[in-house]
Amino acid sequence: MDKCYAAITAVGGYVPPYKLTNQILETMVDTNDEWIRSRTGVEERRILKGEGLGSSDMGVEAVNEMLKKRGIGAEEVDCLICATVTPDMVFPATANIICDKGGLKNAFSFDVGAACSGFLYALTVGTSLVESGRYQKVVVVGVDKMSSIVDYSDRATCIIFGDGAGAVLLEPASGEEGVKDSILRSDGSGRQYLHMKAGGSVKPATVESVLAKEHYIYQEGQAVFKFAVKGMADVSYELMERNNLTADDIAWLVPHQANLRIIDATANRMNLPKEKVMININKFGNTTAATIPLCLWEWENQLHKGDNIILAAFGGGFTWGATWVKWAYETN
Ligand code: UT7
Repeated sequence: MDKCYAAITAVGGYVPPYKLTNQILETMVDTNDEWIRSRTGVEERRILKGEGLGSSDMGVEAVNEMLKKRGIGAEEVDCLICATVTPDMVFPATANIICDKGGLKNAFSFDVGAACSGFLYALTVGTSLVESGRYQKVVVVGVDKMSSIVDYSDRATCIIFGDGAGAVLLEPASGEEGVKDSILRSDGSGRQYLHMKAGGSVKPATVESVLAKEHYIYQEGQAVFKFAVKGMADVSYELMERNNLTADDIAWLVPHQANLRIIDATANRMNLPKEKVMININKFGNTTAATIPLCLWEWENQLHKGDNIILAAFGGGFTWGATWVKWAYETN
C-alpha cells in the first residue's frame, strides 16, 4: 500500500502590535543599534503587552486565522499540539487553554517542550498522527511569549528575543506532497549553556530565587552559537543527502531565526543562495517555537504546490533538527 503523507493545508500567524526597536533598547541597556544588527540581524521585535495575556492568547489568534483560511470549524479539529517554553502556567498545558479559548471542543491536546526546535518536534508528532490514519485534522502551534522570561537589564539576551505565534493544519495528503522526512536530535548535556535556573522541580520558586533573577533565560551565547552553527547546518545537509536533494531541488530554506549569522552558515553549507532563505529576524527577533511557522505565514503567498522546503532549527536542550516538506497547495 502506498504511504499516505500528512500535508500542511493552511497556515496562520499572529504577532502583537507593540514594536520594541533597537533604539528603544538603547535607552534600556548599554547597547547600540549597530552592534545588535551586525551581531544578530535583529532590528525590532514584537512584545505582547497587557495584563493577564499569555502565550495562549497569541496561539488562539494564529489558530483562528488558520481555520478561517481553510474554511473549517474549530469543532472539526481532532488534535492540537502546542510547542512552547513559555506556557501560560506550569499546568495545564497551553494547548488545552488554546482549545478552550478557540472552541476546539473535540480535540485532545498537549504541549511539546523542545525550545527553539519545538515546532519541528511537534510537526513530526502531528505528522505521525495523521499518517497513522486515525486522525484527519491536526493543528500544530508554535508560540512563545519570550518577554515573560527575558531579563531586560541583561544586554546579551534582551536584544534577541520577541513574542509571536504561528500555526499549521495537517491533513491527509491527496498526492505526493506533504511532510516527507525529518531528522530530529537532542543532547541534554547542552542544558548547561541555555536554561532557566529556577521555577522547576529541582529549584522551586522562592523569594531568593526571584531576587537572584533565576526565573529568566540563562544563556552562554558564544557556546550556544558554536553548537547551533554546526548542529543546524549538519542536520540540514544530512537531510538533503539522505533524500538525494541538491540545492537546485530546494525552493526554500526556513531556518529558525536565532541569529542571522547562524542562518547564513546553514544556507552556505546547503549551497543555497540568499534569495531562497526566509528571513524575518529583523522584524520579529527570535520568537523561539514560533519562528518557523511565522516564516511560513509571511511567505505563504510565494509558495507553490510541489515546492521542496527545508525547515531547520536548533535550540535549548540541546535540541535540533530538519524537516523536508513538499508544499501541497497554491494560495489564491
Ligand atoms: O535560539 C536558541 C539558541 N540561541 C542561539 O542560537 C543564540 C546563539 N548565540 C548568539 O546568537 C550570540 O552569541 C549572541 C548574539 C547572544 C552574542 O553575540 P556574540 O557575537 O557571541 O557576542 P559575545 O557574547 O561574544 O560578546 C562580545 C562582546 C562582549 O564584550 P567584550 O567582553 O568583548 O568586551 C559583550 O559584553 O559584546 C558585548 N555585548 C554587547 N555589546 C553591545 C554583549 N551583548 C551586547 C550588546 N550590545 N547587546
